[in-house]
Amino acid sequence: MKLLVIGSGGREHALVWKLAQSPSATKMWCAPGNAGIGEEKLTSNGSMVELIAISAEDLPKLLAFALEHKPDLTVVGPDNPLGMGIVDLFQSKGLRIWGPNQKGAQFESSKVFSQQFMERHGIPTMKAGTFADAKQAKEFARSLDGRCAVKADGLALGKGVLLTTSVEEAEKAIDEIMVDKAFGTAGNNVVIQELLEGMELSLHAIADGKTTKLFPTSQDHKRALDNDQGLNTGGMGTYSPAPFLNDAELESVGQAILEPWLKGCQAEGIDFHGIIYPGVMLTKNGPKVLEFNARFGDPETQVYLTRLENDLLDILNASVDGTLDQVTMKWSSKVAVCVVMASGGYPGSYPKGKVITGLDKAAALPDTKVFHAGTTTKDGQIVTNGGRVLGVTAWAETLMEAREAAYRAVSLIDFEGAQFRRDIASKAFR
Ligand code: AMP
Ligand code: GLY
Repeated sequence: MKLLVIGSGGREHALVWKLAQSPSATKMWCAPGNAGIGEEKLTSNGSMVELIAISAEDLPKLLAFALEHKPDLTVVGPDNPLGMGIVDLFQSKGLRIWGPNQKGAQFESSKVFSQQFMERHGIPTMKAGTFADAKQAKEFARSLDGRCAVKADGLALGKGVLLTTSVEEAEKAIDEIMVDKAFGTAGNNVVIQELLEGMELSLHAIADGKTTKLFPTSQDHKRALDNDQGLNTGGMGTYSPAPFLNDAELESVGQAILEPWLKGCQAEGIDFHGIIYPGVMLTKNGPKVLEFNARFGDPETQVYLTRLENDLLDILNASVDGTLDQVTMKWSSKVAVCVVMASGGYPGSYPKGKVITGLDKAAALPDTKVFHAGTTTKDGQIVTNGGRVLGVTAWAETLMEAREAAYRAVSLIDFEGAQFRRDIASKAFR
């Protein structure tokens, strides 16, 4: 099969790395990819993955490329092209593509849609209201004593969420989003949620319109600095499994969310083929869904795919074709840890073009894989090209060993200004 993968982050490197191991993959392109993706080779015939200089959001050019080169499957990594309707567009031209269509992508592209869907279908979530009017939003925030999550409706690159603990802060947050339009038109509507306390987990399930298959647990680290200090980021590190739910609890939490979700999708004519990724808070009053994403998490993918024992291509094909009921997902009993190395300044502004050293030494370590995110090649060297630069991932029998192995690899790699959290997976040991 010829495959086109869309995206350029650590998630897409992990997808490409795993798909390249499939005996059925005979050709792979990635648009636009990154330096690490461009070094991957297919197991079946040794051919290199080819980078195509088209951005993940340039739908007309991606379509033209696909019509010319006829991939047997296009795999979409990021949320933006999904929200823009790339799946509908490709399907309208008879091209096979994996990911939710625009209607399905709304779970992520509209927080208002998601919140109201959860309420309509009895998915466990928190007290919340959706508002187009700042005055009413503030009234609701006051009814929660200002202890809220104030969320811009639309996509805001994971930054459109402000957490507040007083009425003053909440009113300021509402003004920032709705009046000052800090996130542009994404802030025309807001969702105000009750502020939850508890342990946060990432869940993933793959869906084919009729069946869902739940993945093991993982946990992300969203804040930039150790001990969950600093600004929210796309995610600074993950590990899987996370020990806060045993298998039976995971199964029951999964069911409590996925059964009403799937029934709701079917009732509302949402034919969802892709990953549904609920962010879940384990609270005193049970698990509550904070939000839905409609794609693989980044850096969750890096720890999931290093543990997945199936051929990923088989699973994506089953998700497209509606045959997931015939698939048994197999997960390694090993624990995986991913530590993100980011550019100095991230998630604020940061420099690019810093030479990265030590990648060869890290690559020589056993049970370790350095996934690239914001990297490119310049004058024959690999240099930084984004906020999150690398996802240094290792796996082992125990979490302690996996974490040590990941940090050993991190210690071999360097670029000017490199920053990373030193406490990935610490919560698991508390
Ligand atoms: P979201 O983009 O909706 O996932 O929000 C970003 C982050 O803000 C989440 O990963 C949580 O850490 C935090 N968060 C979101 N909503 C809430 C909430 N209702 N209560 C507490 N924390 C929240
Ligand atoms: N790891 C967080 C996300 O992918 O949204």
